[in-house]
Amino acid sequence: TRSHPFYGQAHQAGIQTEQQRYTVYMTFDLTSPLASDLQVLLARWSGAIAQMMQGLPIGSVEPDGSGAVALDTGEAYELSPASLTVTVGLGPGVFDDRFGLAAKRPKHLADLPDLPSDQLQDETSGGDLSLQACADDPQVAYHAIRDLTRMARGVATTRWTVLGFGRASAGKGQKTPRNLMGFKDGTRNIKEESDFDRFVWVGDDQAWTRGGSYQVVRKIQMNIETWDADPVGDQQDVFGRTKAVGAPLTGEREFDVPDFAKRSGDATVIPQTSHVALAAHENNGGVKILRRGYNYTDGLNRVGLLDAGLLFLSYQNDPQHFITLQTRLGSVDRLNEYIQHIGSAIFFTPRSPKRGRYIGQELFE
Ligand code: HEM
Repeated sequence: TRSHPFYGQAHQAGIQTEQQRYTVYMTFDLTSPLASDLQVLLARWSGAIAQMMQGLPIGSVEPDGSGAVALDTGEAYELSPASLTVTVGLGPGVFDDRFGLAAKRPKHLADLPDLPSDQLQDETSGGDLSLQACADDPQVAYHAIRDLTRMARGVATTRWTVLGFGRASAGKGQKTPRNLMGFKDGTRNIKEESDFDRFVWVGDDQAWTRGGSYQVVRKIQMNIETWDADPVGDQQDVFGRTKAVGAPLTGEREFDVPDFAKRSGDATVIPQTSHVALAAHENNGGVKILRRGYNYTDGLNRVGLLDAGLLFLSYQNDPQHFITLQTRLGSVDRLNEYIQHIGSAIFFTPRSPKRGRYIGQELFE
């Protein structure tokens, strides 16, 4: 029953917002060469998102006269807003030569470089625009994406999508959920306001980009059957944490601070190639990212194995932070035996518009 405001916030909703249970994530390719078409689409999307975040239809569900097509498709009609947020992202393609917007490019917005262990597939990578709809009711999230996709007709076509069914990271005050490997995910996520200012929100770029962030998305497939056959002791060494409690291997409780230097015989207690040892800010020159991922499943693969994984979503004020982390993780992380990065894209998510304006309006002024 909760609803989040769309207009007049310091940042777009869906980034720092307490993470909802479900997501529908979709990217689009712009097919129209006209900047004015992009402009109208961003304006229409903004108006519709504001409306849907209040739990309202975007137009008539049952228009007068049986000859009329409904403006709103109706499947969320009379449902609660369910904490819906829709976060709009602009990909590098928005700032290429097509639309005359090159001078406005956010300074770090560029395609991600090839990273170690990448097994990216074209059909789950890239895009000029992204929509991340999150809600506590999957039908509300799906309705939002469906109706926004409808509005894009003639301007942008769908590129790839993922339905996420369980949040896989925690924000402040949230109980830590578990990913599909059965481990708590999000224990040491960014939670403090000061860390948001330092690591998430853009500050030192063109005025229109301030308060925005860079969204990195990776579709990461898990080899579930192989993982399930691995003894729990080994699984704990892969992450560097215990399975049930989620404590670092050097501690007892979930939020105990890991001691990466502690040794037992020749080796450190938290293996140096464990996921947390490689990802922790203590071992990375202080880098932190905001993780906001979701568990997903695509059903079964061609040989009847469970096809599932993590829709990894991170927000940072410089994509280099993600690149630094994934360069390390992709090279030596023990987790690599059980996962493949099969999808990837990057977007800039501008700040929230003032009432009466729309997302990215400064691009056209
Ligand atoms: C921590 C799972 C991919 C960055 C963790 C933790 C788990 C986990 C269980 C420990 C609990 C926590 O502090 O949240 C996974 C799984 C992945 C994955 C299953 C892939 C399927 C990634 C990627 C990155 C990343 C691609 C970044 C490039 C981090 C960071 C931490 C973390 C920064 C916190 C480390 C710390 O400060 O202790 N992850 N992760 N993870 N992960 Fe991942």
